[in-house]
Amino acid sequence: MTQKTESGLPARLAALDLLAAALSRRAGLEEGLAAPALRDLPPRDRAFARALVMASLRHLGPIDRALDAKLSRPPPEAVRHILRLGVVQAFLLDQPAHAAVSTSVDLAASRRETRPFKGLVNAVLRGLLREPPKLDDPDTLAPDWLLARWRAAFGAEAAQAIAAEIAREPATDVTPRADADAADLAALLEAEPLPGPMLRTQRRGDVAGWPGYAEGRWWVQDASAAIPARLTGAKAGETVLDLCAAPGGKTLQLAAAGATVTAVDRSAARLKRLSENLERAGLSAEVVCADAGAWEDERQFDAVLLDAPCSATGTFRRHPDVLWAARPSDIASLAGAQSRLLDAAGRRVRPGGRLVYCVCSLEPEEGEAQVEAFLTRTPGFAVDPIAPGEGGAPDASLTPRGTLRVLPHHRAGGTDGFFIARLVRSEGGS
Ligand SMILES: C[S@@+](CC[C@H](N)C(=O)[O-])C[C@H]1O[C@@H](n2cnc3c(N)ncnc32)[C@H](O)[C@@H]1O
Repeated sequence: MTQKTESGLPARLAALDLLAAALSRRAGLEEGLAAPALRDLPPRDRAFARALVMASLRHLGPIDRALDAKLSRPPPEAVRHILRLGVVQAFLLDQPAHAAVSTSVDLAASRRETRPFKGLVNAVLRGLLREPPKLDDPDTLAPDWLLARWRAAFGAEAAQAIAAEIAREPATDVTPRADADAADLAALLEAEPLPGPMLRTQRRGDVAGWPGYAEGRWWVQDASAAIPARLTGAKAGETVLDLCAAPGGKTLQLAAAGATVTAVDRSAARLKRLSENLERAGLSAEVVCADAGAWEDERQFDAVLLDAPCSATGTFRRHPDVLWAARPSDIASLAGAQSRLLDAAGRRVRPGGRLVYCVCSLEPEEGEAQVEAFLTRTPGFAVDPIAPGEGGAPDASLTPRGTLRVLPHHRAGGTDGFFIARLVRSEGGS
């Protein structure tokens, strides 16, 4: 049953601003979630605002289609946001339908720019109550241009299965600091064991209060995101360079494996989080704030991991805004940065050493095409094929080339989309 405080205007106004931020710029959702307007709300209001926005983003495609069928001309964006939140309340959250309409009308009335559209909000939402829309049709859950790309890259059936994951709220995956602690942690966190070992829990709420967090016995990391560090094969006595390392999930894994780790990222703010994460886990690494493509350092390493900046379309389960903030032109410009970083990463690998390249993107230009182009221009490297199940990867992700193309439906309950390749440098080191 919906609580009275959940229907408060402050929570709805915060949701309205958060939705506008999420859809107007890249990283707007992340920034909005950390902004004082939301942070300073009572916890229950904050949770309600967040739930409204996340459900709006997870169903944005079908919601907009349902609204467009009722609108004779496009309303101002702020009015559309109010309608989107109204649809979520009426059909996706446990709220009485009449309250969804009346609180949406109140929301429109509360701001000067949307006040003239009160009647429209009322009419459109009442119209939808008479013919409830279908809000989880995979054919409309992703923007058309992304769905077309996924069809071209992976086939129609896989594209539909990927899109179906957009509407599903993900569980939380965690990496144990020590493999031997996985069984105890599974009991403590009421978690399902996943290969790796990893754990998947349906718990909700602030992870900082969960057992074992403060002692650094585990950290939050999607099951797919935990695969690349394992594929480096890093072990005690080895040196590993982690490029584009912050906030540090992979650095923690490498350090926990006993390797001597150097972590490089160009964002000081994100590196601060990396250092805090290392400290909490009782692990250490050399932390360097630099552009990985221009970092002046002569060392070479036994293994290099490059987790390159990318469109992040594979992370839509926790960041559904990426689907709507991404533009086709982003993919080409990010591909340029990825190729520069891959060249820089290659130069840091000692002869005979390993290079793991990964991106949390579903777009082949950022994954397969990057690696093939790198191999063409850098003859001293070859693919080191990944074995079935290695690193805890789902079997369906292994490609004939020996790389991994993890798709969000490859694990029951979903997983982030990733491309991962392991290369080896010839002993001659050319
Ligand atoms: C996908 S995230 C890395 C996630 C991280 N590896 C982890 O496991 O927690 C990409 C990172 O690349 C960093 N980045 C982007 N361009 C960079 C560059 N030219 N040099 C160094 N870091 C860069 C960003 O600051 C961001 O932290």
